[in-house]
Amino acid sequence: MTEKRAQFATRLGVIATTVGSAVGLGNIWRFPYEAGVHGGGAFLLIDLFFIFVIGVPVICAEFIIGRHTGSNVRGAFKALAPGKAWGVMGYIGIIASLLILSFYSVVAGWTMEYIFQSLRDFSGVHSADGLHDQFDTFAQSNLRPVMWTVVFLICNYLILARGVRKGIEKMSNILMPMLFVILIIFAINSLMMPEVAKGLEFLFKPDFSKITPSVLLGGMGQAFFSLSLGLGCLITYSSYFKKDTPLVRTAFTTAGLDTLVSVLAGVIIFPAVFTFGQEPAAGPKLVFEVLPSIFINLPGGMIWSTLFFILLFLASLTSTISMSEISIAYFVEEFKMERKKATRLNIVIAIVFGTLCALSFGCMSDFTIFGFTLFNLFDYLSSNILLPVGGMITSIFVGWVLDRSVVRQELNLSAKPVSRFAFAAIVFCLRFVAPVCIGLVFIFGLGIF
Ligand code: TRP
Repeated sequence: MTEKRAQFATRLGVIATTVGSAVGLGNIWRFPYEAGVHGGGAFLLIDLFFIFVIGVPVICAEFIIGRHTGSNVRGAFKALAPGKAWGVMGYIGIIASLLILSFYSVVAGWTMEYIFQSLRDFSGVHSADGLHDQFDTFAQSNLRPVMWTVVFLICNYLILARGVRKGIEKMSNILMPMLFVILIIFAINSLMMPEVAKGLEFLFKPDFSKITPSVLLGGMGQAFFSLSLGLGCLITYSSYFKKDTPLVRTAFTTAGLDTLVSVLAGVIIFPAVFTFGQEPAAGPKLVFEVLPSIFINLPGGMIWSTLFFILLFLASLTSTISMSEISIAYFVEEFKMERKKATRLNIVIAIVFGTLCALSFGCMSDFTIFGFTLFNLFDYLSSNILLPVGGMITSIFVGWVLDRSVVRQELNLSAKPVSRFAFAAIVFCLRFVAPVCIGLVFIFGLGIF
């Protein structure tokens, strides 16, 4: 490699960018919707298990690979295991990240529509039912959702084309804390709603009879999706880390903050769902139908609503930037493509697939494959299958194949080395717990058994 690779400037930059990748629509849109469909508390429990028992060690594994090689996903595996099949991770990463970028941009486009809806005070519609219909009318209208998807992807392009440090890092440092504060304010507001008890019970009380194979699969997928885990996103990001970034601590901080945001989103949404007489299992539309009802009932609702959707839009951007970076780093380093050209290629592919996903709620709603619309298929395939497969490959690779001295060296490269217990626990999870749990969930969840 001739050119010196970019690096994140500060420690805060590392955390903010990694958390910026993790925190996004996955927490605020996908978590409440999946929890609503899969029975609330039981789903949260599975999600937490996968985040902390499987997720944190696999984050460490991706960090080890990324920082040690300082390379894109495929290049990293090629460097560590030349000529072996592990390089297949590169393809999983690129395919899954493009699938995710496509449907994710549709939802990010919805947030842009809702910035404008908020500014127009939802055209004066102030009943829960009316707001409900308003979303349906918009999502089915074909042209506007497609337009916003494309506009969003162009924003993504403009930031990416400016390079790693300048674009990504600066934005995350300011925005993530702001989003956090506003979520806490909304959560407090929801805690004062009439049906708060019902909402919190739904979210926090696990009904063990609801733990079915599909809840297991869904919870596992949500954990991976929300942590940006399994397709080398964190390999790519950690290739920009400095040598003294403490990997284990960064992994815990990321998982902890990410979980906090999801739980806050749940605390905001579910009391409102029951207060406004809505259906928790409404699917992908849930959050966009419930949030406006919350906002219009707040004093100064229009301002809150506008601010919230702007922050959600920006949180989505920091996530899509991290997804796009996977294939861009790959195109640039493996094919010696110019960065701008690689970025354009990435965005053009996403625009084509994103348009199809946006139309899944309109004129293509009857077009299904295995009973899924394209939007749902892309989500299911990437979150529930490709990400956990990627996570399994990564954990087996670091647990069994990678030289143990590399693992030890990378985990200990900071002012405070990890304890022997923590080291042993991480290696044990990577060797046994993660592959076995992921494998079992596949066997049962996909009905292989
Ligand atoms: N974690 C992000 C969210 O919750 C989405 C995301 C960003 C992602 N990068 C990723 C998901 C890489 C999977 C892989 O919104």
